[in-house]
Amino acid sequence: MARPRVLSGIQPTADSFHLGNYLGAVRQYVALQDTHEAFYFIADLHALTVAPKPEELRRRTRVAAAQLFAAGLDPERAAVFVQSQVREHSELAWYLICQTGMGEAGRMTQFKDKAAKYGEGAASVGLFTYPILQAADILIYQTDQVPVGGDQKQHLELSRDLAQRFNSRYGPTFKLPNPYILKEVEKITDLQDPSAKMSKSSSSPQGIIDVLEEPGRLRKKIMRAVTDTGSEVVADEANKPGVTNLLRIHSALSGVSIADLEARFAGQGYGAFKKEVAEVVVDTFAPIRERTEKLLADEAELDRMLAAGADRARAVARETMAQVRDRLGLLP
Ligand code: TYM
Repeated sequence: MARPRVLSGIQPTADSFHLGNYLGAVRQYVALQDTHEAFYFIADLHALTVAPKPEELRRRTRVAAAQLFAAGLDPERAAVFVQSQVREHSELAWYLICQTGMGEAGRMTQFKDKAAKYGEGAASVGLFTYPILQAADILIYQTDQVPVGGDQKQHLELSRDLAQRFNSRYGPTFKLPNPYILKEVEKITDLQDPSAKMSKSSSSPQGIIDVLEEPGRLRKKIMRAVTDTGSEVVADEANKPGVTNLLRIHSALSGVSIADLEARFAGQGYGAFKKEVAEVVVDTFAPIRERTEKLLADEAELDRMLAAGADRARAVARETMAQVRDRLGLLP
């Protein structure tokens, strides 16, 4: 029997992934490659919506790819590729743009947040159509499961809506994708502001932990993470969001349950706890950092791995597109 398909994408908009990306998404990519037919890509077309410098985009795309392999994606099991190298994504995005209402696109909260940041009218049209390109990414592979953090829920609903609409207008063409979101790690928060999600674009450097961060800095940031009043290490989302975030991080990385951590640190105060959180994070990221550097040292080989991933992805994307064009009434 064919394995279910899993797909996800991650943007190359920073020099490193952060702990939220890792726990909310990348770790699930790695786990699911064993049970699913897996497609994972670097969303460089999405990154273009904020007009990055070409040199920076090139570098960050390779750094992102290297981190995915370093985190455990196996090019034999998973197709890992760069979005722009499979041109069918852009093509399907146009067809889906033509199926999307202005009001529908305007309701996307990420767009509204970003548009507010750039100022009225200054955000690009690309930013507006961003979730529709994301729908194209997903639908083109007839995807069953999409591992993402909680911030992508609305975009996944739009993908399902567009699939359904296309299917009912033109005949069954796309599978309806399901989000794959792990409750415990769907929102890792900023170390300095535990009410906000950890974010490449809006967290301060002190609030964000990078996968490629140097261990000394990483330890310092965790020791300085905002904790809450009192001194007990217990999970309490409403009153102790900072400690709760650190408990989640520890538990997700160490595999020790939050209840066991609470028992272990009873009466010890925040300092001892944070020290251990830092060690757990360093132990996870140090080997990833090392492997990332090795992969980046041979750019030609890295590019070859990505080209092979794109070939596999394209074969699937082409099949879907032949059907889509025909359904729409475009000449062969
Ligand atoms: P991006 O690049 O912003 O984030 C990559 C993944 O990391 C997750 N994430 C988090 N999870 C938990 N806690 C956090 N603080 C946190 N911050 C980020 C995100 O939910 C995401 O899963 N639009 C997507 C990229 C994309 C995509 C796709 C995803 C393009 N096409 C198709 C899935 C399917 C994005 O900007 O992710």
